[in-house]
Amino acid sequence: MTKYVVVASGKGGVGKTTTALNLAVALSNFGREVLVLDANISTPNLALHLGAPNVPITLHDALRGKNHIKDAAYLHPSGLKVIPSSISIKDSDEDAIEKLEEILPDLKGVAEVIIIDAAAGLGKEATHAIKSSDEAIIVTNPDVPSVTDALKTIKRCDEKGTKVLGVVVTKFRSDPYELSIKNIETILEKPVIGIIPHDENVRKSLYLKNPVGYSHPNSDASIAYKKLAANLIGEKYVESIIEKKGLFDYVLTRLGFKK
Ligand SMILES: Nc1ncnc2c1ncn2[C@@H]1O[C@H](COP(=O)(O)OP(=O)(O)OP(=O)(O)O)[C@@H](O)[C@H]1O
Ligand SMILES: [Mg+2]
Repeated sequence: MTKYVVVASGKGGVGKTTTALNLAVALSNFGREVLVLDANISTPNLALHLGAPNVPITLHDALRGKNHIKDAAYLHPSGLKVIPSSISIKDSDEDAIEKLEEILPDLKGVAEVIIIDAAAGLGKEATHAIKSSDEAIIVTNPDVPSVTDALKTIKRCDEKGTKVLGVVVTKFRSDPYELSIKNIETILEKPVIGIIPHDENVRKSLYLKNPVGYSHPNSDASIAYKKLAANLIGEKYVESIIEKKGLFDYVLTRLGFKK
């Protein structure tokens, strides 16, 4: 069975794409088949995080009916399957997202979990990504503006019948100037299922164009993503030092699924 899980937030820049990618890397470390899809079609970033800005077929081509959605799937050297969106300005019209619900079921069987990286806010793009998903993970930073906006995203999930699995708090510094985890849970009335520390390795990994869970598997952020993945699939996370793999090839390979 294929489960569709959206990673959403009210406020922008809180760490959705980082979470979508690194949760996916962590889940695949636990042996799960995962695909990440970039549903932020006006300002997509997923391919940029992976150092593959230009691929021949993107989600945009599938939304326009030009290609089957499976033709837009690629394999990253980490083992992740990804469906990027086009970064071209001429493809930035967000109306195309209306077709998402129609084409997503065609990915059934391609992976156990399809993680949908949503656009921020409550606009058309975010709402269609939420509506097309079975479950949602809400990302917030531990500050009042992010949490206030997260509450609106949770309400939107409720309206669309998308089950909120919980909240992931990212860029957590554990200092006196941020909201406590308990406070966040009280405001949002949802459990915090992951706490990702503020970690400079995330910035380094963006520079290296790889998920931090792949470039720095033993960093604090990577370990926190592994704990989040373990929590979601009901497994126990056992800390182990992972050998760093060679980062020799960043180019995505076409998957060429059978339709
Ligand atoms: N745990 C972390 N520690 C430090 N920096 C982080 C962390 N998580 C994310 N960042 C940084 O925050 C910035 C925004 O992250 P990201 O692109 O994942 O956010 P987003 O919510 O997807 O943004 P958008 O709303 O624009 O799609 C990036 O520069 C990223 O490297
Ligand atoms: Mg993003």
